[in-house]
Amino acid sequence: MIKRVHPAIRHSPFVGAMAEYWIYFQAFLRSASGMASIAPSSRWTARAMVQGLEQLSGGAIVELGVGTGAITAELLRVTAGRCRCLIVERDPQLCRRLRERFRDAEIVEGDALNFDAMLRERRIRQIDHVLCELPMNWFAPPDRDNLLADICRWLKPAGSFRQLSHLHWLGSGQYRCYFREVTTRHVLRNVPPAGCFICRSPIHKPLARRLESRRGGEPVRLLQR
Ligand SMILES: C[S@@+](CC[C@H](N)C(=O)[O-])C[C@H]1O[C@@H](n2cnc3c(N)ncnc32)[C@H](O)[C@@H]1O
Repeated sequence: MIKRVHPAIRHSPFVGAMAEYWIYFQAFLRSASGMASIAPSSRWTARAMVQGLEQLSGGAIVELGVGTGAITAELLRVTAGRCRCLIVERDPQLCRRLRERFRDAEIVEGDALNFDAMLRERRIRQIDHVLCELPMNWFAPPDRDNLLADICRWLKPAGSFRQLSHLHWLGSGQYRCYFREVTTRHVLRNVPPAGCFICRSPIHKPLARRLESRRGGEPVRLLQR
């Protein structure tokens, strides 16, 4: 006979953390390249990603590829309902869990590559910040270019694009094509050690020319909004 688990155990932080790891690992087994890491981000990584957003009042933040919501929890805590947060995840099972975990949050089940349509449908006009936890290095280069170009067009001039990375030691080169200012926050207390690129001042026209020449003249979607 299965005995009921005592509520003190069921709701303990340890059991909660283990359950989150297990859900994350199952998602990794479903799509290793989609998840790109075997464990959710640590609280230190989450803090590095949202640092500086405490002051924001009004406006919109988009979080892309949220997994089990390790960074979402910190984002919703620091913004405390003062701005609109769009939480985007592709995996339906993770979305179900996210809706249970963050009952009042705006969870969007969809592909981040449909960024433009997603924002238009929700009548968002501009974005203050983008938190991106997508495995960008696994994306096809044209998809990555188009997504970053879309993000540049939607970001307010004073906004930021924040990319979670586990390969941050390889450098920030690809983001320098899109942003004038790129800094890195390193987080050793994460499995595996992580980094966060903080990118500001989106570049528009020079980027279009540079990308087109990289793609042998094939046009890119830029400045069409
Ligand atoms: C590195 S994991 C997220 C980690 C999580 N944010 C954390 O910090 O613990 C990447 C997430 O992006 C999602 N994902 C991958 N490709 C996507 C896409 N094209 N659109 C939306 N989500 C995507 C995966 O399902 C996965 O949950």
